[in-house]
Formats: sequence, C-alpha cells, structure tokens
Amino acid sequence: MIQRTPPMGWNSWNTFGENISEKLIFETADIMAESGLKDAGYNYLVIDDCWSKKERDDKGRLVADPVKFPNGMKVVSDYVHGKGLKFGMYSCAGTLTCAGYPGSFEHEFVDAATFAEWGVDFLKYDYCYKPNYEDGRLLYTRMGLALANCGREILFNACSWGADQTPEWIGGTGAHSWRSTGDIVDSWESIKSLAHQQFALQPYGRINCYNDMDMLVVGMGGKGNVGFVGCTDEEYRTHFSLWALLNSPLFIGCDIRTMSDATRETLMNPEIIAVNQDPAGRQPFIVSRQGEHNVVWGKLLADGDIAIGAFNMEDSETAPWCSLNIPLASLGLNRSCGKAVVLRDLWAREDIGVVDDVLLITLPAHSCRMFRAHLVDER
Ligand code: GLA
Repeated sequence: MIQRTPPMGWNSWNTFGENISEKLIFETADIMAESGLKDAGYNYLVIDDCWSKKERDDKGRLVADPVKFPNGMKVVSDYVHGKGLKFGMYSCAGTLTCAGYPGSFEHEFVDAATFAEWGVDFLKYDYCYKPNYEDGRLLYTRMGLALANCGREILFNACSWGADQTPEWIGGTGAHSWRSTGDIVDSWESIKSLAHQQFALQPYGRINCYNDMDMLVVGMGGKGNVGFVGCTDEEYRTHFSLWALLNSPLFIGCDIRTMSDATRETLMNPEIIAVNQDPAGRQPFIVSRQGEHNVVWGKLLADGDIAIGAFNMEDSETAPWCSLNIPLASLGLNRSCGKAVVLRDLWAREDIGVVDDVLLITLPAHSCRMFRAHLVDER
C-alpha cells in the first residue's frame, strides 16, 4: 500500500539538471542510506528530466541515455532498492518533456509498463508540450489509469503547476500530490513567493493529494541548476518549516554528498519531519495573519496536539523584526474550554512551559518558530 503521508526523498533537478549519471545516482543512494537521511524518512530517490535518449526504440519504448546510464535503468533501480530506498523517475503529459526529451503523450500505457518493468516506485509527471486541443485533466487521468493497471504500485506525483484549474480535478486522477506552484529557484524571494501562493490554495490540500510546493533548495548555497543568489541557513530553516507544516512533499534538491552540518540539521530535525508526516494529513489553517507577510499557521495533529508555525516573511531592510501574538482563542481555545497548552519548541528541541492565555513572540526578519502545543487542563 502506497504511503498516505507526503512523500520524502531526493530529486536530481535542482542541482544537477541534465548533468545526471549512473555514478551520481549510485553515490547519492549511498549517502541517503549511510547519512541517516533514509532513516529520517527520505526514502525516494528520483531522477528528474534528461535521463532518456531523444528517440524511442522501434517498439515505441523509452530508452535510457546510454552515455549517462550505460547499464540501463533496471541496474540503477536495483542499486537504489539494494540500499533500502525506493526509485523514482520522471516523464511528461505532453509530446516532449520540459527539457525536450520524449514525453508520454499517447504512450502512457507502454511507458507505465516500462517503468513497472524497471522497478519504478514513483513517477513525477510534468506538463510541457501538451497539445492545445487535448484536455489536461484527461491526460492525467489516462496516466493515472495506466499506473493503476501496470501491475506495480507507483506513486503518481503530478506536476502541472496548477495550470488549467488543476486543483479542481487532480484529486480524481489518482495523483498523490499536485504541484501547486511554478518552479522554485534558490533565493529568499522565490521561497517567499511560493509560500505566499499557498494562502489561496490551501483549501485544495487533502490527505493523499497534497499541495506540492516544489523541491527544496535547502543547502544549495546558490550552486547548481536552479542555484541563484542562495539563502542563509536561517532562511533555509524557514523554508523547510513552511514546506513541512503545509504538507508539501519534501524532496531534497542539494548535493547531499557535500552537505554542511547546518543543512543536515535542518533537513533531519525529526520533530519538524513528524509535523509533515503526521498520519492525519489534515489541511493547515491560518491562526493569525498580520499584514501581507507575517503569518501563523496551525495544523491539528493525529494525537490531538496542534503544530504551530510563526513566520516573519517581511523584508529585513524595512522590518528587521516583528512581534506576533498568538492568543489561545485563535486556536479555538477560548476561556470557556478550561484548557491551557504545554508548548514545545521544535527547533530548539525543548519544552517551554504552559501558556494559558497569549503566546507573544518576537521574530527577526526571514525567521520562524515552530511549536507543538499539547492540551492540558487549565491550572
Ligand atoms: C519543469 C518542472 C521542474 C523540472 C523541469 C525539468 O519545469 O516544473 O520541476 O522537472 O520541468 O525539465
């Protein structure tokens, strides 16, 4: 049975783009297994675009690029599985992928069969080069059907960036998540903009069809395929907290072979990951919002606790810090409930005591605090 929580793993695109190879995938699989990433929950290793030859074979099947993957995809898949990981690949609903390789349009069933033969466990499915006369909903439905009938469980990761009213129909296609944003780049502005777009889209997120805010840029430091100006470690922590709390799939995009200790600590904080992987998969809600960019998000967890994230997304020049009030009443707990909460700070990894009225926090620009609130009887 495919997992119900947001998928986690590593994806080749953000750092490597077309520069992918068997060697890179083997080394990445080794690190995922040995560094603790796999044990932290990152279990899908996904090869994004640019893995195939430009032509299909004479039976109409996709063929791995013989220079990048000289031993074929089954060997890669076996290696990844041998490390206790799951194997993910990429295709596209159009005639070509976004980078110009063959897409799955009108080859959906043969491609699903090929992926199943190679032992693929996850398919990212893009939306470039879709013929104008075709209905995107039908193309995703068709690939959803092909995957559901290919004889192997393959998690369907839709990537049509919200185009053509995606969120209104994607839940019926079998997709486990849908890309609710355009492409991320490694900058604070990009993180801020993608996070901002989620205000309107949050009502569409649901268990088994999560809003996918795109792969993580944590630890990229301005390098690689979508490397741009880069971010500070604090900004990467805010980025990771937002993606985790808003139920996005968590796909690492940096080169994990060379990740710093700060990157490792951000990506592997078990208490933040637990918020993302909460089995109830409930839709997050806005606890309070101050102006455009200061927001407190909440999420009701399976055990009755509440995850709370307070974010200062303002520009550091104009607003170097902000104060945010979180009255318990804004969580639904007014005085009549007779309840207080015990708070745990999830980044400091420490309990910070009982709050029975208002939590007041001060946040430097671009930073956040993440808490877990446990209900207790009021003293
Ligand atoms: C699109 C997707 C990206 C990536 C590229 C590959 O832009 O949104 O995530 O897969 O295609 O070409």
